[in-house]
Amino acid sequence: MTKVIALAGKGGTGKTTTSALLLKYLTSRDMTPVLAVDADANANLNELLDVPVHSTLGAIRKELKGDIPAGMSRDQYMEMKIHQALIEDSGYDLMVMGQPDGPGCYCAANQYLAMTMDKLAENYQYIIVDNEAGMEHLSRMNLRSIDYLLIVSDPSARGIMTARRIADITDPLQLDVKKQFLLVNRAPDPVSPALQEKIDEAVDKADMNLAGVISSSDDLIDQELSGTSYLTLGQDTQVIQEAFAIFDAIFNKS
Ligand SMILES: Nc1ncnc2c1ncn2[C@@H]1O[C@H](COP(=O)(O)OP(=O)(O)OP(=O)(O)O)[C@@H](O)[C@H]1O
Ligand SMILES: [Mg+2]
Repeated sequence: MTKVIALAGKGGTGKTTTSALLLKYLTSRDMTPVLAVDADANANLNELLDVPVHSTLGAIRKELKGDIPAGMSRDQYMEMKIHQALIEDSGYDLMVMGQPDGPGCYCAANQYLAMTMDKLAENYQYIIVDNEAGMEHLSRMNLRSIDYLLIVSDPSARGIMTARRIADITDPLQLDVKKQFLLVNRAPDPVSPALQEKIDEAVDKADMNLAGVISSSDDLIDQELSGTSYLTLGQDTQVIQEAFAIFDAIFNKS
C-alpha cells in the first residue's frame, strides 16, 4: 500500500527543506520507490535536488485541452505525457504540478489528470507532497488520504500557534489525515526551556504528535548557496542525524 506524506506549515518554515531531507531518508533506507510531488506553484524542490524540470502537470493540462494526436485515445495520450513529465532519478521520481487552473474549473482535463495520477501513485511505496503554505491548497488536491501530515514550524511562539491551527483545521477541511506531527525547524541548539514549553503545550492541546526538532544548520545554507543536491549531505552532518532520527521515529524504524 502506498503511503502519502504531506508537508504543511507557514511560508518559509522549511517544508521544501524537510521534503528533500525526507527523500534522502527514504532513498537511503531503501524505502523505495518514492514519488516526490512538488505541489507548489512556484516549484523549487527540484533546486534542492539539483535536477532540471522539463514539464509540469499544469502544462499537460493545457495540452489536453487541445487536439489529441490521431490514433491515440485521450487516456493513452495523457499517460504518455505524464510519464514524459516524470523526472526519474535513482530511487525516486519527481513530478512538478506547476501552475494550477483558474478558480472554479472542474474541467474534464482535471478529472483525467486526477485519475491518471491515482494510477501512477500505485507504483510507489511512498509519496511525498511538498506544498505551498495554506491548507486550502492541500484540500483542493485530489489526495484520497494523507497517512502522515508533517506540520513544520519555525521556533517561535506564533509559529507554533499557527501549526496548532493547521492541526485543528484538517477535520473541517475534510482531509482524511491518519497521523499528524509537529516538526520544529531551524531551532536554536539547545532548545530553550521556554520554547520547549510552547512545543509541549501545542502537542498537548492539538491533535498532533511531536516529530522532533531540527536545528538551524549551516550545512543546509552552504548546500543551498552552492546549488548542491541535499541528497549528497553527509550522514555525519548534524542536520541529517537529527532528521533521520525524527523519520525513524515517525516510521517506527528505531
Ligand atoms: N534547519 C535549517 N537551517 C538553516 N536554514 C534552513 C533550515 N531549514 C530551512 N532553511 C532555509 O530557510 C529557507 C526556507 O526554507 P524552505 O524553502 O524549505 O521553506 P518552505 O516552507 O518550503 O517555504 P515556502 O513556504 O516558500 O515554500 C531556505 O532558504 C532554507 O535553506
Ligand atoms: Mg517550499
